[in-house]
Amino acid sequence: MKLTPIYALLLLITHVSALVRRGAPANAPDALKCSFMIDFDADVDGHAVLKTHFEGKGVLWQESTSVRNKFANFVSVRIAGDCQDASLIFHGIPGAKTFSGVTSRKLAATQHSNSPPLSDAAYHTSTGVNDARQKLGLTGKGITVAIIDTGVYYLHPALGGGIGPGFKVIGGYDLVGDDYSDANQVPVPDDDPIDNCSEISHGTHVSGIVAGDARNMTAVGFVPAIPFTGVAYEAKLLAYRVFGCTANGTATDIIAAAIYRAAADGAHIINLSLGTVAKYADEPEEIAADIVSKYGHVVVSAVGNSGAQGVQMTSSPSNAKGALAVASFQSPVSLKPSVFVDGGSYPCVLGNLNASFTEGQVLEIVVNDIQAYEKRVENDGQTNINPGAKGKALLLRLGRRDVATSTERCRWALAAGAVQCILYEPTDSAQSITGNKDIPCMMLGREAAVALLSKIAAGEKPQVVISLKETLYPLQTAGSISNFSSPGLSLELDIKPELGAIGGNVYSTISEHSAKALNLSTAFKTLSGTSMASPYAAGVMALLMQHRASEIPSFNELRGYLMNTASPKPIYQNNLTHSVAYQGAGLVNAFYAASTKSLVLPAAIALNDTDNFKSSVALTIRNNDDITVTYSLSYFSAATVNAYLDGDDFTQDANTTTFTDDQHASVSFKRDFITIMPKAFAKIDVTFTAPAAQTAYPIYSGYIRVVASNQPEHPIHVPYAGLVGSYKNKGIWSRNSSSLATKWGGPLGYPPSIVKTGLYSPTSLTPLRDGDTINATVGVAVMILVSTTSRFASFEILAQGQTKQNKVLEAAGFNTSDIVLIQFKDETDEDGVPGMSVPLVRDVIPDGTDATEPGYQIFFGRAYNSSGYAADLPPGEYVIKFSALRNFVPFWSANEGDMDVIVSPTFKLVTGVAESSSARGSAAPTPSTNILKAATAQKLASRLSALLQSEFPLSLNSWRRVLGFAAPVMWKP
Ligand SMILES: *[C@@H]1O[C@H](CO)[C@@H](O)[C@H](O)[C@H]1NC(C)=O
Ligand SMILES: *[C@@H]1O[C@H](CO)[C@@H](O)[C@H](O)[C@H]1NC(C)=O
Ligand SMILES: *[C@@H]1O[C@H](CO)[C@@H](O)[C@H](O)[C@H]1NC(C)=O
Repeated sequence: MKLTPIYALLLLITHVSALVRRGAPANAPDALKCSFMIDFDADVDGHAVLKTHFEGKGVLWQESTSVRNKFANFVSVRIAGDCQDASLIFHGIPGAKTFSGVTSRKLAATQHSNSPPLSDAAYHTSTGVNDARQKLGLTGKGITVAIIDTGVYYLHPALGGGIGPGFKVIGGYDLVGDDYSDANQVPVPDDDPIDNCSEISHGTHVSGIVAGDARNMTAVGFVPAIPFTGVAYEAKLLAYRVFGCTANGTATDIIAAAIYRAAADGAHIINLSLGTVAKYADEPEEIAADIVSKYGHVVVSAVGNSGAQGVQMTSSPSNAKGALAVASFQSPVSLKPSVFVDGGSYPCVLGNLNASFTEGQVLEIVVNDIQAYEKRVENDGQTNINPGAKGKALLLRLGRRDVATSTERCRWALAAGAVQCILYEPTDSAQSITGNKDIPCMMLGREAAVALLSKIAAGEKPQVVISLKETLYPLQTAGSISNFSSPGLSLELDIKPELGAIGGNVYSTISEHSAKALNLSTAFKTLSGTSMASPYAAGVMALLMQHRASEIPSFNELRGYLMNTASPKPIYQNNLTHSVAYQGAGLVNAFYAASTKSLVLPAAIALNDTDNFKSSVALTIRNNDDITVTYSLSYFSAATVNAYLDGDDFTQDANTTTFTDDQHASVSFKRDFITIMPKAFAKIDVTFTAPAAQTAYPIYSGYIRVVASNQPEHPIHVPYAGLVGSYKNKGIWSRNSSSLATKWGGPLGYPPSIVKTGLYSPTSLTPLRDGDTINATVGVAVMILVSTTSRFASFEILAQGQTKQNKVLEAAGFNTSDIVLIQFKDETDEDGVPGMSVPLVRDVIPDGTDATEPGYQIFFGRAYNSSGYAADLPPGEYVIKFSALRNFVPFWSANEGDMDVIVSPTFKLVTGVAESSSARGSAAPTPSTNILKAATAQKLASRLSALLQSEFPLSLNSWRRVLGFAAPVMWKP
């Protein structure tokens, strides 16, 4: 089969003389225009060589950053003017090895919260940090952790109050300067990595989680609400600033440079609470993580906050094989106001819009219908109004929120004459409610509701008193994976995340600038995100490295200790162990990791898909103890994730993801027991049998459990996971989207047959049929629905019908030995972009029931070729060929079978004639453009407002997808 030539040009540089490109091509969606990193042989002076080379070619360029140390030798550049064919520009640079396109990265977004902090006792117990301190004396002493972030406000007394030898922050570097941003990618580096102009103060917060010590704080403006310590509060820090004051973007060359610098400066651990979703592990900062990890530097990185977007969303750089990807678990406790029922105190939640209660206020409760829950009344208070409600606090069942919101229910209470609206649901924890601005509102926790209702049912008149003081209550979701935490597996089906740490509601240090900007009286605040879980795990790693300093363990061994001793957790309110795709090995435990006397490797087993099934593994068990130990082996299955309900369905979100107990690998061990001498090791063969496919592409997983006779109280776990079916054969394009048909097509009156990848009338959105005419002034809608992420996709135009079909294209100036791509355009995009996507990221329908319009683009009869030549196509017959590279095939594959291809019906392209091309039969409804847009706009508006109120922030990329601006990428000549 013929290779489409663009691969040869852009992706596959195999000519001996050309420079090999790595990572994202220049046309990646997040590519920085004309920005490249060039890797040199160790002995080459890259600056000098580039200067000579570019001057010789008359290329205008600017150096961005560079590194030359034992790990890497690269210079990154921004080139002026046309840089499409970078391989030509770089052709012949002496001593150059490879080059990479530079792409942008964001902070792993965080949720701001004003709730007060947790005490160390509450916070550090579930992760074994308190035990590691108390029983093993571990504090991180002697370990250095680098923070690659917005800088560190080292003047904060909880972070040592200074920088340099003798301080907690011993050094670092500012790679970018204040003015660096998404819009201004010109780094102005200096020696001072202080974080005192970003509002979020992300790096300072992250630093406090690793190594802050906020006990004994007395300085004005620096007294925390509760004294606390970072996980490894005697560790030293190095600060690398890679974001400017706006902190709204950084670039992969900068991050890679920071990683190499941190390693060269002696960082034992490097924390990156930043990234971007759904990348293959080919990027410069991932390569950097791989390289420094081989020298024993441990890169720890946030797995991402895209939990609402379904599986396989883990972020780069956490996807690197040499990085530890960290998921977020919920805190054990949270702070809530209280309601006292006859003196017993219970948590409650106040309405967001109106909670005008006073401290010690006594409520006169009237239950609207004491049997509302038993009788499953879903609209308690709407028509069954209790006449006794007047002037009292009316207690209503919350029931299903899609039947009525808390706002509506409290309006019923108001209409009934109540003066307070109290909601309850006997099975629910105290969830947050919006409430109603016209009446004070409150949601009772489950325990309060049960206590109150049972007393009233028994004919008692309990006394109900409110306390607004926040009190620590166990969090019902304690120890569960946070809903924002991005699940794996990686796009190559590697086990990512590796493990999890606490990332929800973490109180830590911020800069004075940030405190002032946020109007806080003290330089501390609470944030949530995998951004917070990652430094927590980095702190635990510091404790582990302190304890095992004399062993000089490798990255692989350190990761092994942490993963072996993590605790797999169940799904919230479920008995199933949560999938490895969500939690990796489970919640980290510092005490077990430091004190374990065994090590089992590999620490995780990726079983791949069924076609590439890894059916056997030799486990190595090492006995580090001074006594002979007997190990017993067994396994248990974790939940199966059914995320791809239909093999080529549009996409799945967390809401449509189901967890079942139905598809498992079986595991057998050559021996179930083995006795190992002191300081010796043994290998045991493990054989896996894959489950048979029942639904489409489930991700199944489980844990091998190894119980050691010397430490039976904490068994070792080795996670394994795989995908049933053929990952390669899984469609990239969606051809049958029942989920999108339900969510989008249905409400607009479209049958499911309409909602699939292909060409549509732009006015009626009816599918194009063979022989239809496309008027170039009206264009045709290209519906791009992606069910699985792919490394590369193209939208190619092929002339049809004529005997010498290429003549048409050649007459228009195209070289037909090259690929010819269609140009996409929408109203907001004057220039248009070439029909190509690198990578092509799986679409997402965010959680909730609102419809989201699929992303479609308009093709107006204009085409591009790979060297940036663009022209209008002459009238004629054409098809559009949608090609996407399948997964698990070589990136450079020349085999057509390695692409998922859809070819459109043949259409007649005409120009300049205002004829209607969308007259159709009645197979599908044909709303006018305006109706379509109004309906869509309304849905988008409601979707957006729901998102704004949602519990966790979305990344910019996900906003783009939410708004339907999904597919094409910038590639401007
Ligand atoms: C990032 O910040 C810069 C400087 O304030 C601004 O010009 C740019 O528009 C911002 N980018 C985004 C995506 O908000
Ligand atoms: C710091 O505060 C703790 C109690 O929070 C106290 O036990 C300790 O002695 C204090 N240390 C110093 C150096 O003041
Ligand atoms: C969990 O298991 C217990 C005991 O077997 C059972 O009573 C309970 O209903 C189960 N819960 C769920 C959510 O399956």
